[in-house]
Amino acid sequence: MYIRRCFDLARLAGKSVKFNPQVGAVYVKKGRVLTEGYHETYGSSHAERRAIERSSGANLTGSDVFVSLEPCSHFGKTPPCADLLVDTQVANVHIATRDPNPKVNGKGIARLSTAGISVKVDTVGDDALRILHPFLTTQLLKRPYIILKWAESIDGFIARQDARTKISNPITDRLVHKWRSESDAIMIGTNTAIIDNPTLTTRLHPGDSPLRIVVDRRNRIPIDHKVFTDGSPTLLFSYTRRDKLTSDVEQIIMPESDIERELDFMLSGMYDRGISRLLVEGGSQLLQSFLTAGKWDVCRRIRSTVILKSGVKAPSLDQPYEFRTRVMEDVIDQYRHPLSDRSIDAQA
Ligand SMILES: NC(=O)c1ccc[n+]([C@@H]2O[C@H](COP(=O)([O-])OP(=O)(O)OC[C@H]3O[C@@H](n4cnc5c(N)ncnc54)[C@H](OP(=O)(O)O)[C@@H]3O)[C@@H](O)[C@H]2O)c1
Repeated sequence: MYIRRCFDLARLAGKSVKFNPQVGAVYVKKGRVLTEGYHETYGSSHAERRAIERSSGANLTGSDVFVSLEPCSHFGKTPPCADLLVDTQVANVHIATRDPNPKVNGKGIARLSTAGISVKVDTVGDDALRILHPFLTTQLLKRPYIILKWAESIDGFIARQDARTKISNPITDRLVHKWRSESDAIMIGTNTAIIDNPTLTTRLHPGDSPLRIVVDRRNRIPIDHKVFTDGSPTLLFSYTRRDKLTSDVEQIIMPESDIERELDFMLSGMYDRGISRLLVEGGSQLLQSFLTAGKWDVCRRIRSTVILKSGVKAPSLDQPYEFRTRVMEDVIDQYRHPLSDRSIDAQA
């Protein structure tokens, strides 16, 4: 139960932890919660320390500490949490998973055990791994955590041919803007930029608009389109340099290659620029290239009751969904990449 509370706390941080893990911690003595905390922002106190900072001087000696990730044992931006727990003289530590970071993996547990503190791994289904999925992805794969998203009609099209097409309902649109606000960057394909001329903001939900990422290998997007002119930043991947770009547009020249290598090139460029969470919003060809290359972590497919009869076919994804939600008449299925789960399991 206390480990589950750690997960709830960990979720509060969202993207503000950047490449760090989302972690929560709870200190308990004689069945009473003495204090709790979570890792709030990149570089700030870890959850175990934050809980102590918030404890208003409560006596934590002899307490049980529940924490959703193995306490660190190395000096990073903050001193080691394992040492802090030893100095605090806690009695027991319960963790949800070991830390796959080679600098820690097992060393935090060893440090605590050597000091006579009992450490128990309370595995609670896949919850710990799901919360840590963005962190584990950036740590192990050196690329952003990738969420694919699209909306399709009941007959399997994402748009009418060459026309901007409304598919999801206005409440789902707000949810999509919430997903945008939880991302560092949002990526679209060339045809989507040309046909929809979108702004890709979070205007329907509080929170910063993510950086826009546009792939336009052959410089086909008209120079007066909003991604180039509306004053918000855009990262542009192309084969050749383009004239007349404003200072809001950073252009990266990409070597011509096969789709998979080009995706790798773009993803590592994003990672180098500090992008830890990427939302890919389409169109179909771009989404399918991520699916085919297996370069995705979560996929959210919105299905509405709109009937189009023809148009741009939706990407295909053939696996069971992780969970299903409904927003009025729209059905949203979330999928999780099985391979990335496996590679993470092996490390955890
Ligand atoms: N319902 C929804 O959720 C949704 C969301 C977004 C868009 N849309 C709709 O989707 C339609 C456009 O979809 P689309 O499938 O035709 O085009 P798209 O995916 O937006 O763009 C495809 C083009 O992007 C370029 N490209 C560069 N790298 C690529 C890669 N790794 N994989 C695939 N393409 C890459 C290619 O052009 P070059 O060969 O010239 O490089 C390719 O032809 C629009 O009508 C838009 O309204 C719907």
